[in-house]
Amino acid sequence: MSNWHVNLLTLFPEMFPGTLGMSLSGKALDKDIWSYNSINIRDFSSGVHKSVDDTPFGGGAGMVMRADIIESALLSIPNQGRKIYMSPRGKTLNQNMAQELANEKVLTILCGRYEGVDQRVLDAHNFEEVSIGDYVLSGGEPAAIILMDSCIRLLSGVMGNNTTPDEESFSNDLLEYPHYTKPAKWVDSNGVERIVPQILTSGHHKNIEKWRLEQSEDITKRNRPDLWHKYIAEKP
Ligand code: ADE
Repeated sequence: MSNWHVNLLTLFPEMFPGTLGMSLSGKALDKDIWSYNSINIRDFSSGVHKSVDDTPFGGGAGMVMRADIIESALLSIPNQGRKIYMSPRGKTLNQNMAQELANEKVLTILCGRYEGVDQRVLDAHNFEEVSIGDYVLSGGEPAAIILMDSCIRLLSGVMGNNTTPDEESFSNDLLEYPHYTKPAKWVDSNGVERIVPQILTSGHHKNIEKWRLEQSEDITKRNRPDLWHKYIAEKP
């Protein structure tokens, strides 16, 4: 097992590794920097129809995944580590949480479908609920992929040396400044000549740093007043 392992409890094991099998995370998977194991919850259903869900007590729309079947699937995992249930009502994933989860050795992520899972299995096994944002997906699998991606890129050996995490968005409560590359002068399809901000080609590192900070501040103020207020309050 690698140094960062994820057990996935899902009705759609073929959704993994999905995009995590490509690009940097895919290379890291090949190098065994991280590993995963998908467990098909349906394999733990004993009924002839292999059903995993039932109608909700108290009535209402949709179906609920059964606690007993999820528990059997969970107990088939010898080393469960931190248990997470992907759910829009969970604590919202952010960069701090991604770093914290990247520091764990083993995670077990439960991906729900239908209206959700029987609350009792979450209570019985102390699942932490994590949301990836204020919108509702049709299942937890894409959310698990996003959570895992945010962690994998923080594992050592994944990104190479030319990234400095403190310059990234969110690392200091600011969003990232804009980037430019060659050609320095570019005419867009409307005939507008677009020149790279002169300061970036000046070679004056102190001024460049100052310009980038100002840009980060402007973008944060404009797009994320919540982050901006936090930044202002915590700025030394
Ligand atoms: N499952 C459905 N919607 C979700 C969300 N926003 N975050 C995490 N899991 C989910």
